[in-house]
Amino acid sequence: GLALLAGCSERPSFDPARVNAAPIGKGLPRGFLLGTSTSSHQIEGGNENDWATWERASFPDGAPHIKDRSVSGPAADSWNRFDEDVKSMKQLGSNAYRFGVEWSRLEPTPGAWNAEAAERYRQWAHTLRVQGIEPMVTLHHFTLPNWVAESGGWENPATLDAFERFSGRVAELLGADVDWWCTINEPNVLAVFGYMDGVWPPGKTDTVAAAQVLANLMEAHARAARQLRALDTVDADGDGKATLISIAHHVRYFQPASGSVTDVAVSGLTDAFFNESVPEALRTGRISLFVPGSVSLQRDIPGLKGSIDYLGINYYTRDHIRQDTSPSFSHKYVPAGYDTNDLGWELHPEGLYLLLERFANFGVPLVVTENGMDDRTGERRPYYLRSHLYAVEQAVAKGVDVRGYFHWSLIDNFEWAEGYEPRFGLFRVDRGNAELTRQATPAVETFREAARNLGL
Ligand code: NOJ
Repeated sequence: GLALLAGCSERPSFDPARVNAAPIGKGLPRGFLLGTSTSSHQIEGGNENDWATWERASFPDGAPHIKDRSVSGPAADSWNRFDEDVKSMKQLGSNAYRFGVEWSRLEPTPGAWNAEAAERYRQWAHTLRVQGIEPMVTLHHFTLPNWVAESGGWENPATLDAFERFSGRVAELLGADVDWWCTINEPNVLAVFGYMDGVWPPGKTDTVAAAQVLANLMEAHARAARQLRALDTVDADGDGKATLISIAHHVRYFQPASGSVTDVAVSGLTDAFFNESVPEALRTGRISLFVPGSVSLQRDIPGLKGSIDYLGINYYTRDHIRQDTSPSFSHKYVPAGYDTNDLGWELHPEGLYLLLERFANFGVPLVVTENGMDDRTGERRPYYLRSHLYAVEQAVAKGVDVRGYFHWSLIDNFEWAEGYEPRFGLFRVDRGNAELTRQATPAVETFREAARNLGL
């Protein structure tokens, strides 16, 4: 509550002339990880999982699950083009890469293990290490094997056992080259989209189930972290740590639409549920979720407290919040005249600065595990990247311990329910040609400038 009020009273506004003149990258600390981020299902291609199943189906009213009616299909074919992707990482001058391992690929049926796929992931991690690109591996990025989803997915406690086993195997597989881990990507987004709004698999609109799933995901994280610590004992980069574990936590800057008591209260409730409940659970070991009239959940989760070594922050945008009578009590919108990306999300770099500052005293260093924009021409991404790196540097200048920034994304990819129309890539993927050719967008130069100024 207090943090929120503090956030409201201070409203920095970045002057574009200053942002453009800043020697971007110079203000980042030594050892900073400057990289890009992807996920298995969005780039690999050929995955058979709960999402692939969902992509082929429709809502009861006949509307397609994926807005542009696409299916992920070959995605960016990164499963077969990893060397090309590494070239792009090199072209950026980046020193880190966050990618996902696909559970459905590694364990296509319960207990089975796809040795060939495992070997490919092992080679990827090793190649990155040899190339001087620090690998960060995500264990769960929204997708489940069909056999897990069919037996109840994240609502079924047995999934926690299966995920823990899977995490242990990945730790053994990749531990020799990987120190940085994200167990679960955006548990809050998965719970809301999959179980509250019903726009992602499994398509439920059940607030109680959403809260239970969020609690289960935190437990899944704690259990995965235990496996990683037990089974990945190799300090791959020689910094004295064999594992650096977090989740990638999606945060948004919530702006009350007015100073009215109701708008401020509803914005605060939204903020508490969406931004605070996950970090608070990580800090205390107890998840506590409250939605007026429907959810009041508290659960102690063994092993959760102390389970993270850094806090991964995914930040994209700000929402303005007005109180209304819908089940969430709120209407989220972008006021007319505000600058947005091509998905209509507000561009608000100051929000990244404020949220980094808010989590400054969390007790572990921060890493921006995702940040990026849908920019279909590629012309506006340079400023987005520059202004958000500027936000990171402003936070660092204030003494906030930020250790990395991973841009979403290296290449254009499958944007879930939005399909292939959005373009988040620093490199454009030409979907009209069978080769899925990668082509640098103007922001590649911006990224290179930051990498140079960082001394990479
Ligand atoms: C967050 C998610 O982790 C990622 O999968 C998605 O593509 C980006 N945000 C952009 O929406």
